[in-house]
This record gives sequence, C-alpha cells and structure tokens, in this order.
Amino acid sequence: MKNFSLPKEKNIYVGIDVGSSKICCSISTIDPIEGTLQLLGIGSSPSTGVKIGSITHRENLISEMEAAIKEAEMMADAKVSSAIVSISSEQIRGINTQGAIAIQKNQMNNVPIQHEITESDVQRVVDLAKGISLPIDRDILHVLPQEFMIDTMEKIKDPVGMSGHRLEAHVHLITVSTTAATNIANCAQELGITVDGLVFQGLASGTAVLDKDEKDHGVALVDFGEGTTDLSIYHDDGIRHASVLGIGSGSITNDIGVMLQVGMEEAESIKRTYGSAKASLSSPELEFDLPVKNGGIARRISEHELSRYVEARTEEILRLVKREIIRAGLIENLTYGVVLTGGGANLKNISGLAEEILEMPVRIGKPKGVQDTVGMASDPAFSAAVGLGIWCYQPDEMFSDYHAESPVKQTFKHIFRWFKDFF
Ligand SMILES: Nc1ncnc2c1ncn2[C@@H]1O[C@H](COP(=O)(O)OP(=O)(O)O)[C@@H](O)[C@H]1O
Ligand SMILES: [Mg+2]
Repeated sequence: MKNFSLPKEKNIYVGIDVGSSKICCSISTIDPIEGTLQLLGIGSSPSTGVKIGSITHRENLISEMEAAIKEAEMMADAKVSSAIVSISSEQIRGINTQGAIAIQKNQMNNVPIQHEITESDVQRVVDLAKGISLPIDRDILHVLPQEFMIDTMEKIKDPVGMSGHRLEAHVHLITVSTTAATNIANCAQELGITVDGLVFQGLASGTAVLDKDEKDHGVALVDFGEGTTDLSIYHDDGIRHASVLGIGSGSITNDIGVMLQVGMEEAESIKRTYGSAKASLSSPELEFDLPVKNGGIARRISEHELSRYVEARTEEILRLVKREIIRAGLIENLTYGVVLTGGGANLKNISGLAEEILEMPVRIGKPKGVQDTVGMASDPAFSAAVGLGIWCYQPDEMFSDYHAESPVKQTFKHIFRWFKDFF
C-alpha cells in the first residue's frame, strides 16, 4: 500500500465524518487528466460511540473510526495518515458579527490621499469582527466572511485595492464546545492520524450538494442525520445561519420500535422498507408481517398505519426546522427553498411532506462535484463525507479556524484567498 504521509502534496484528500448512525471515511484524489476530484474509496462503520453528535463511548468510536478508515484504505489502495474530521453536535452555534476600522490616510502637499485597502486591513477588520467574548469552554470553529462595506458602499466582495475612510466586515462565526471538539479530534489522533482540521458537518454537506446559484439566491441546507439535524442557511454567497437540532431520523425509528413493540434493528428495517413520510400515499390494503417475539402471536400491520407514525414524527422535525429558519429571520430569503440531505432524506415521500410543511420548494441533495469511480456517492447519507474531501481539495473556499493542536490558531492568510473564491 502507498503511504501518503503528506496528503495534500500527494493529492490525497481524506475526510472522516463522525455521525450518530455511522462513521464514514472518504479518500479522494485529483484526476490528473480531468483536473477534477475523484473519489477513490468510502468506508463506513456503524456508530455506537456517538449519540446526538456527542461521544458517549470513546473506545467504540475509536474502533469504529478505525474500521471505516480500513475499509476506505482497502478500496482506495492507500494509507491514511491525516484527515479532516466533521463535527455535528447541539454544542454548535452560529452568530453574525461585524467589525469596522478606519482606513489610514497619507498626506501629499496637505492633500489627503485615501489609502488603498490591503490584505492586512482585511485581516484587521475580520480580526475585530471575530473578537467577541466567548465562554471559557467555547472556541471558534469557522470564520465565514459574508461581505464588506466601505463607507456607505455595501456588499463588497473583495475590498483590497479600493479606497475609503471606513472598512466594515460582516462575518458569520461558528463556535463549538472546546471539550466536544478536542475529544473528537483526539479519537482520530489515537489512531495515529494527524487531524488537519474540524469542519461543521452541515457545511461539509453543503459543499457536496449545493449549487453556486442556490448559495447566491438563498437556500437552507438540512442534513437529516440519525441523532441530529444540521441547518445551514446561505444567502448572497455567504453563510447566514448555522445550527444543530438534537433530533433526527433516529426518533422515527424509535417511535416505530415503541409503537409496534419491535427491536430497534427491526424498526430500522421496517422504516426503510415500508415507511412513508406521507401516510396518504401508502396503501391501507398493503400489509406486512411484524416479527414474532418469543412465541407470541403473528401480527400484521398496513403500510398506511405505519406511515401515520412516521409522518407525525417527520412533521414534528420539519416544524422545528421551520421555526429555526423563521427565528433566523431568513424565511423570505430562500429563493431556492430547502435542500434535504443526510440519510434521513432517503425516507420515502419526505420532499412532498417537507414542501407542505415548509411551504417552499424542496429537493433532495445528493453528493456531486466528484467523479464517483466507486459508485457510492449517490446516497445522501454520504454527503458530509464526500463534502469533507471537496473541502480539503478547495481549502480556500471556506475558512476553517479550528486546528486540533491549536484550537484558536489564527490562519488569517486564508481569509483573503477564501474571499476571492467564495464570491
Ligand atoms: N432508505 C431510508 N429510508 C429511511 N430512512 C433512512 C434510509 N436510509 C437511511 N435512513 C436514516 O438515516 C439516518 C442516518 O442518516 P446519516 O446521515 O447516515 O446519519 P448520521 O450522519 O447521524 O450518522 C438513520 O436514522 C436512518 O434510519
Ligand atoms: Mg451525518
């Protein structure tokens, strides 16, 4: 096996997506002929060490990470030595902040000459915007510039070289609990893997499934996972809101288990095979057998009856998403409505129900932007894992501020380059 000790130099990009239902490792490379990203391998292992995005059993998580990595390594015929890792937990918070600086003026023959804005001015103003006071157990995960203002001129994407008196930066900060972030990074490090950075799972998924037009004109990306539902709202080519709901598709499984008195594995299989997010679209005539327990009597239930439970819980989650979008004050900005991704987006008829509840267009987002040579990237459940690879490949598209060794390392040089690409 090849050993890629310097992944980026060797054009190998590794992402480890830590979910509540599965740990997933993706290995990608650049196709030397096409110049595009090519997916070489995906490995996946059931996740039993993470609940609602937080670690509950560290040893399980480490061995499941190892299994996912090994599977991806086998498929890609490569050895993983460094990676970026996703994080989705209720501890994620997004906040919009601003900062402003005066631009220095030079004098020539007593005539003031307005100073041209430099990269270092941009760094200073973004520094100011991110300089909010954070609780002791909280760190900045991402600094995502939205736009600049020079005096009264708004919506400037790249202020360098322009002149004025006052430069203002509008920035979205995503913060995370230091403990949650450090513990996730430590698990990968325990396996001898260098963690190049942590990325909010909702952003990784957005990178894999959204179009530039959607990000420009407004879209809400909903990553419907097992224990969490990540929401990232884009408008004017910037992130406007990021949050995590501590409920996901696992609650539907749980309801099925409780209502039908079956084990969780059976409930999961019933949900996938017979469940529909719209009960009206499933037939009361089509019945299926329920597993018989300990010599109990045989039972049958219709798909319609099952889907009534499925619909009720799915509707509840979608209403929570809607409330969050309204709370963020962005419901009017979503020209492209909602893109649903994550494994939960595979539920039958979920886009129909979501359109009714959210009262806007809804599409299912599958990973794209990679050559899928292994034929596995068409499942929305893999959006975040594939997105992490794209994130590594285009490190300047977004700006990650969280590094495992140095939680608040200020890598400002990335900000300006990020801006150039992002707008
Ligand atoms: N075909 C399907 N129908 C209904 N639900 C599905 C289907 N495939 C996956 N899911 C659900 O998606 C959830 C897992 O989504 P995933 O994005 O992999 O979660 P996580 O990132 O939290 O590990 C599970 O609750 C699973 O039941
Ligand atoms: Mg996920």
